[in-house]
Amino acid sequence: ETGCFTYDPGFTSTASCDSALTYIDGDEGVLLHRGYPIGELAEDSSFMEVSYLMLNGELPSKDELDTFTYTISRHTMLHEQLMQFYRGFRRDAHPMAIMCGVVGALSAFYHDSTDIADPEHRRISSHRLIAKMPTIAAAAYKYSVGQPFVYPDNSLSYTGNFLKMTFGVPAEPYEVNPVVERALDRIFILHADHEQNASTSTVRLAGSSGANPFACIAAGIACLWGPAHGGANEAALNMLREIGTPDKIPHYIARAKDKNDPFRLMGFGHRVYKNYDPRATVMQKTVREVFEALKVSDPVFEVALQLEEMALNDPYFIEKKLFPNVDFYSGVILSAIGFPTTMFTALFALARTVGWVAQWNEMISDPGQKIGRPRQLYTGPTQRPYVPVDKR
Ligand code: SDX
Repeated sequence: ETGCFTYDPGFTSTASCDSALTYIDGDEGVLLHRGYPIGELAEDSSFMEVSYLMLNGELPSKDELDTFTYTISRHTMLHEQLMQFYRGFRRDAHPMAIMCGVVGALSAFYHDSTDIADPEHRRISSHRLIAKMPTIAAAAYKYSVGQPFVYPDNSLSYTGNFLKMTFGVPAEPYEVNPVVERALDRIFILHADHEQNASTSTVRLAGSSGANPFACIAAGIACLWGPAHGGANEAALNMLREIGTPDKIPHYIARAKDKNDPFRLMGFGHRVYKNYDPRATVMQKTVREVFEALKVSDPVFEVALQLEEMALNDPYFIEKKLFPNVDFYSGVILSAIGFPTTMFTALFALARTVGWVAQWNEMISDPGQKIGRPRQLYTGPTQRPYVPVDKR
């Protein structure tokens, strides 16, 4: 019943771990965090409460949640010298490149993070990472648009504070829209953790050597950036915009099926889900709620709905068991809220930091933990004698 992930030739890597954090049944489209279904958490919980659950194993009491939320809020500021880091980047640097650099640099600012044998150091490093990611992501956005950084406002919720740091400007008062705040908080919940995906496995492997936790999370950010992984939300919206109108959908579906064409339907398919990704179900519902509340629409949503309909009824997609994943609709909502596509994966990284940190803690606090060492299937030449260059 533990989530052991054992050697599978199809995966080319050997990783085996026990974990009590997240359970996925890919055939049934089930996703549980510490036993709680993702649909119920997305509907009734909050990102701070899910963060507590992932780190501590149980849902918090009201007092425990208030204390945890207060503790996180104490770490939302970035060292002022770290804010100087941003000025070293080009204005058009991708936010994920900036986040890789700035999060990795946190290991140069918090020396207690190097002594991870001390549970207290692990705890404060975990809280710092969860607390600072919104500040780091928002600052990356501000820098890219040439606006001044907006400092954290701890009178707001975790997600409300992020919205204000991102979209607020010193010259104007900023009102957090509760519908947007709720929708974004739900999107963070949907992205919090997902078992041993590529970026989480990266964090675990880096952390297994005892490396600094900030550096391990920076490695996870780098891995998540890839278009086959977290970068798919940006690629999916770009694809939907390129399709443009429903009459163009058959052409793109034909391309996705053509083995000679590298094109993939972005936001479709999954290594584990061979059924509908339960996160995509919630995401689609959230699109409708946000559009209705903001009185907005986007023709790209209609394209997405019709693309899903056609693909799910196409024999190729049925046979390959390809369904929409978490990235298929998320970009539609994030774009409606006002984020540029380049920020989509940064938001994924912000939310996934909770899962990475929880998985890192689970691994590093296991007394039997050893350094990860995947093996290989050797396909090179058998042993042979060296030949001097004048004899070759
Ligand atoms: C995330 O691991 C996680 O949990 C990740 C994640 C998380 O929360 O951490 O869930 C987040 O990364 C979601 C996935 C986001 N990526 C995309 O949406 C990019 C588009 N999707 C594909 O690139 C693809 O589906 C992958 C990379 C996600 C999975 O690719 P695999 O491992 O090849 O998938 P598969 O083995 O199930 O594919 C079966 C077949 C293959 O064809 P054959 O080799 O059998 O002929 O389906 C084909 C694939 O080529 N296929 C697709 C397709 N995805 C798979 N064909 C067209 N379009 C697609 N999107």
